[in-house]
Amino acid sequence: MTTVRGFLAQAARPAPGFPGRCPIQEVWTLGCHILQCSLAQLLASDAAEPLHPEDEARWRELVLRRHNGEPLAYLVGHTEFWSLPLKITPDVLVPRPETEILVERALSQTLARGDRCIDAGTGSGAIALALKKESPDAFVAACDRSPKALAVARANARTLGLEVAFWAGSWLDAIEAHSCTLIAANPPYIESADPCLDGDGLRYEPRDALDGGTDGLTAFAALIPGAVRALRPGGRLLVEHGYTQGPQLRMLFKQADFGDVATHNDYAGHPRVTEGIWHG
Ligand SMILES: C[S@@+](CC[C@H](N)C(=O)[O-])C[C@H]1O[C@@H](n2cnc3c(N)ncnc32)[C@H](O)[C@@H]1O
Repeated sequence: MTTVRGFLAQAARPAPGFPGRCPIQEVWTLGCHILQCSLAQLLASDAAEPLHPEDEARWRELVLRRHNGEPLAYLVGHTEFWSLPLKITPDVLVPRPETEILVERALSQTLARGDRCIDAGTGSGAIALALKKESPDAFVAACDRSPKALAVARANARTLGLEVAFWAGSWLDAIEAHSCTLIAANPPYIESADPCLDGDGLRYEPRDALDGGTDGLTAFAALIPGAVRALRPGGRLLVEHGYTQGPQLRMLFKQADFGDVATHNDYAGHPRVTEGIWHG
């Protein structure tokens, strides 16, 4: 019978012929998920203990799916964003660490009672929930075109006890004119023909969350004029984008008469978030 130690020794080996990788830390995470224990418990457990054959089969299957490129968050059903534990299903994009830059920039301004913040294209609710956690007095609302994504976002808000208003719709169409203090969006921005969409990881995520049309900019062409209508004078628009898209985004913001336009780098040093102020 296989022991925990034996399983770990085997599972950590590279799997030739598979496109992805399952490093040992992820083998541990999958083990904790299957055995319903903490990492400390897994590592402190008697490694010579035999694994139940059903647990072994389920653990092995998840490790293989990870080697095959499936995101870890889909395999365990959760991830962390802005230190918030979030339920994740294949109906939503797995929130990325670089999106925390968007949240950091949004929070560079104090959001108080009477301020209205929108997360357009909320997916799992990651951005909206982080904003509400840090700015509990502000009104935070979020939309998505995908009803399945909204169900995940609503479940996350309920579990975290954070009050965010969600609605189904396209970008800022439903927003009252000149009502918003801040609009944040991480829209799909990858060019439709980019082969990375069919590559490791991304091919498992919803196409509608990633595919930004022929030039990758389709969503911005709706979001930027939508924000001009929806923002109060002095309100801010912040968008995440691809690391080569900064110059195009700054041009689109300036053409729409946004002021104080600036692009900020992500933790890897890539231009990732562009923002501007609508002076009215
Ligand atoms: C890149 S994902 C971002 C998800 C989440 N905000 C995050 O950062 O993890 C883009 C999201 O936009 C949504 N979306 C795509 N087209 C949309 C549209 N026309 N109106 C509203 N949401 C849309 C997708 O369903 C997806 O959830």
